[in-house]
Amino acid sequence: MPNNSLTITDNRTDRTYTVPLFKDTVRATDLRQIKTQPDDFGLMTYDPAYMNTSSCQSAITFIDGDKGILRYRGYPIEILAEKCTYLEVAYLLHHGELPDPSQLAQWVNEINSHMMLHENTKKFMEGFRHDAHPMAMLVSTLAALSTIYPDARRVNDAESRRLQCVRLIAKIPTIAAFSFRHTQGYPYIYPDNELGYTENFMNMLWRMVEPKFQVNEVIARALDILFILHADHEQNCSTSAMRAVGSSQADPYVSAAAAAAALSGPLHGGANEEVLRMIEEIGTRENIPGYIEQVKSGKCKLMGFGHRVYKNYDPRAAIIKQAAYEVFEVTGPNPKLEIAKELEDIALHDEYFIKRRLYPNVDFYSGIIYQAMGFKPEMFTVLFAIARMSGWLAQWQEMISDPEQKIARPRQIYTGYPAREFVSIELRG
Ligand code: CMC
Repeated sequence: MPNNSLTITDNRTDRTYTVPLFKDTVRATDLRQIKTQPDDFGLMTYDPAYMNTSSCQSAITFIDGDKGILRYRGYPIEILAEKCTYLEVAYLLHHGELPDPSQLAQWVNEINSHMMLHENTKKFMEGFRHDAHPMAMLVSTLAALSTIYPDARRVNDAESRRLQCVRLIAKIPTIAAFSFRHTQGYPYIYPDNELGYTENFMNMLWRMVEPKFQVNEVIARALDILFILHADHEQNCSTSAMRAVGSSQADPYVSAAAAAAALSGPLHGGANEEVLRMIEEIGTRENIPGYIEQVKSGKCKLMGFGHRVYKNYDPRAAIIKQAAYEVFEVTGPNPKLEIAKELEDIALHDEYFIKRRLYPNVDFYSGIIYQAMGFKPEMFTVLFAIARMSGWLAQWQEMISDPEQKIARPRQIYTGYPAREFVSIELRG
């Protein structure tokens, strides 16, 4: 049995410490005993952007970035994308197990019956400017739900938490659809209980004067698969925001708004919108080499490339690429796919990208497929947020139930002035 500990010698004092190892990590607080003087604060770790820090223990999502593996609750993403619906996967994330048929029927029924928004929420959304970005509307409206459900503040009440999770998973497609209709100046379409989750969303987005909107099943299934692929991704920026805000016992609506705000940035979920804009800017295949040169010289980034965790390939990107072909059979080819494929091909053979282990991520192809389905680029990150809501909430539930979790509160290395003399205003300058 190997000795499961670390021996550290402090060369400042020549003292030696034995620190236990915990699941291949060192508990940062164990380093505090390492001091030069008894009244020293003790050693801390320094890890800007959390490059090598585990902030929690989690049983939800497993990623092996070097091997390109992603699993939810132990099930490979490829199998879930092939065999499940999004709501089945959302159930899995929340309950830890796949549902049996009656559990799934009950879950779907419960989600369906909470899709409606309070009329005050609808009125609140009507107040946005006509050209407001749908992601900004989503962030604000998620926070505004907190005014409708004050019971959500009882975060230590398991039944209340469960209800808020159901409400949020149910209402986010409705908010997303209303925000799209708002930008178009169309009346909002209420949810229809007879439709599935994805079909309902499509109906709320696109129904016009026809009495019944005909959902294209191939597109609905492709969208459902995209939702599965985006449902969770362990401790990414937005999930960490959800956990950090939730750790102060703020309610899940404002915590989810914070998570959605984190997602909106171009380095995170906002990348899918940026990929499409980048491909539009490149315009033709002839311009690709010139664009790659600009990326290599540091003028811009190749959006949809690179990942903090995946250093081999992003398994979600491979599934999306396949789903794209099925969508194009229905919608006709998107010429942007050709540019994307060539961009990928050139980048994958270029020393700059090989050396840095930069591969297409989930956002590289998702924008192209979303556009072919009929979505405007401003909606791409909103689609990501709909799917990620189930993951944020599963992580939030896990965080609240974890006896080791406390309010998130990092330390800092202070680099400012030492104590200095105050100068009264008449003597300054
Ligand atoms: N294009 C060109 N160079 C890149 C790119 C890129 N997309 N990504 C990273 N690099 C370079 C970076 O400049 C650095 O080079 P050097 O060592 O010479 O300074 C090196 O690769 C390491 O990059 P990093 O910025 O230290 O890596 P990170 O782990 O901090 O960042 C990332 C990860 C995803 C933010 C980054 O790769 C990126 O900005 N990609 C483009 C935006 C994007 O597609 N985001 C979506 C991520 S996946 C879905 C999601 O999270 O929502």
